[in-house]
Amino acid sequence: MGNQCNTCQTKVTRDEGKANYNAPKKNEGKMNKQNKTTSRSTNASRMSRSDASSSYGGSQSTVSMDDFRKIKVVGRGAYGKVYLVQHNYTDKIFAMKAVKKELVIKTDQLEGIKYEKEIMEKFSHPFIMKLQFSFQDEAHLYLIMEFINGGELFYHLKKDKKFDEERAKFYAAELVLALEYLHKEGVVYRDVKPENILIDSEGHVRLTDFGLSKGGLEGSGGHTESFCGTTEYLAPEIINSKTYGYSVDWYSLGLVIYEMLCGHNPFKTGQKMSFME
Ligand SMILES: Nc1ncnc2c1ncn2[C@@H]1O[C@H](COP(=O)(O)OP(=O)(O)O)[C@@H](O)[C@H]1O
Ligand SMILES: [Mg+2]
Repeated sequence: MGNQCNTCQTKVTRDEGKANYNAPKKNEGKMNKQNKTTSRSTNASRMSRSDASSSYGGSQSTVSMDDFRKIKVVGRGAYGKVYLVQHNYTDKIFAMKAVKKELVIKTDQLEGIKYEKEIMEKFSHPFIMKLQFSFQDEAHLYLIMEFINGGELFYHLKKDKKFDEERAKFYAAELVLALEYLHKEGVVYRDVKPENILIDSEGHVRLTDFGLSKGGLEGSGGHTESFCGTTEYLAPEIINSKTYGYSVDWYSLGLVIYEMLCGHNPFKTGQKMSFME
């Protein structure tokens, strides 16, 4: 995650990243209340998109962990878990990414997590994950998103082994539109892989996880330098430590297309690492 990290570390392994899409089993209870500025009796109408502007800072936030109950874990990453949660007043279902502050600080990823939030907050595109709310407590930063219930592209590839050309073309076309949009906005995504591509209930893709994304490239001639990504999807220009630009996303997408059609990544090492250096 982030743009500034000097460490190299595992982000998520293939198996760790698997989501479970069965029906909710139990209410895991609520977490501590922090930075909440409105009472529990507040009308549910405050669950509006405009609340997505609430910052991690807390004082502007009108939403807190107290407003949600955790149902189950649907994803895991290096910085915390992603939960299926339900809003207490509207019963609406969301996905909640809980990021451990301690780990973010230890790995120097504060800028990265801030940027992840900003991208999901700022940009609107049908194939890009949108942030609904964000808030924090003592131990965690929380990103509340729409819950995408179709599973990761990774899960579908594992289940179906490979896709026919029509299906692969369909997902590829939607990913091209998502990446094109980000690039036009000056953002290089830098982590295109099947685990970060979710499939919604209607079969459309939704690109998520902006932890490695970098923005503001329009101000630097479309180029950046950080050494980051996921090993099996890394573009040569990143490996060679040269400056690089939006092309790295097209390279990774090419590998995802290969994987959709052939059923495996040609550079598979057995160990999946995602890192920032
Ligand atoms: N909005 C969502 N709806 C459903 N599942 C999600 C959602 N966001 C994330 N996940 C699941 O959680 C996993 C980890 O989330 P991600 O944002 O990729 O975290 P990390 O940065 O740790 O890789 C994803 O690969 C996916 O399986
Ligand atoms: Mg991820």
